[in-house]
Amino acid sequence: MSANELEGSSTTLSLLLKGEMTIEMRMPYSSNATFLVSINDHQNTVKAIYKPMRGEKPLWDFNPGLHRREVAAYLLSEAIGLKFVPPTILRDGPHGEGSVQLLIDADPDEHYFTIFEQRQDLHDQFRAICAFDIVANNTDRKSGHVLVDKDSRVWGIDHGLCFAQDFKIRTVIWEFGGEAISKDLLAAITPLVSSVPLEVATLLTEQEVVAIGERAKWLIDGAAFPVDPSGRHYPWPLV
Ligand SMILES: Nc1ncnc2c1ncn2[C@@H]1O[C@H](COP(=O)(O)OP(=O)(O)O)[C@@H](O)[C@H]1O
Ligand SMILES: [Mg+2]
Repeated sequence: MSANELEGSSTTLSLLLKGEMTIEMRMPYSSNATFLVSINDHQNTVKAIYKPMRGEKPLWDFNPGLHRREVAAYLLSEAIGLKFVPPTILRDGPHGEGSVQLLIDADPDEHYFTIFEQRQDLHDQFRAICAFDIVANNTDRKSGHVLVDKDSRVWGIDHGLCFAQDFKIRTVIWEFGGEAISKDLLAAITPLVSSVPLEVATLLTEQEVVAIGERAKWLIDGAAFPVDPSGRHYPWPLV
């Protein structure tokens, strides 16, 4: 099944949630202990990415529990209809509680910079991710955290470093700076100004939830993608 079919299937979430998990390997280039797993319920098998809380590297600016932010990002992207985060759930696994995210079958040589150059037709999907990252305060939108599947669907991954209270976005997606945000995208974000979906709010602190509404209002009031004259709001490494 393709990621599109899997994502549309109601059994995918329940398989991720309840299926038996087997670790296949630790992912290369992961900053935390991030595992490729297979999950099966004797009828179906899916591959997924398991990030146990225990495998997180301690950070000065985030409390432990980055896996909850991964899930919050998925739920927020679903709630506002942008739907670019692969299905992600919270569950127990061989190394304890963690997030589990559907693996996207993407070309490992393609990432934001290469796709941006070659695929004008995917730029609207990048605009959606860009707007989301501002609202979610993503401080780790590396080029490699953008994937494209064979159906030309763009996916965003690795949202453990989202939702800090203080605005400090770090992203590679600055190409749209100064451009007006489309009506559709503004309409998707507007509801967040008055309320953040409960399923997202329960995974974050009260102050972090308030800050989502404030960033949404800021983006809507400006109605344009922001620019970064300092040139400092990039993640490292870039890819
Ligand atoms: N849902 C996914 N689908 C496909 N590949 C993924 C997915 N999640 C992670 N990966 C791959 O695993 C690598 C490490 O995952 P990432 O989420 O960046 O973990 P970390 O938090 O350790 O940096 C990514 O660069 C990507 O190649
Ligand atoms: Mg990463």
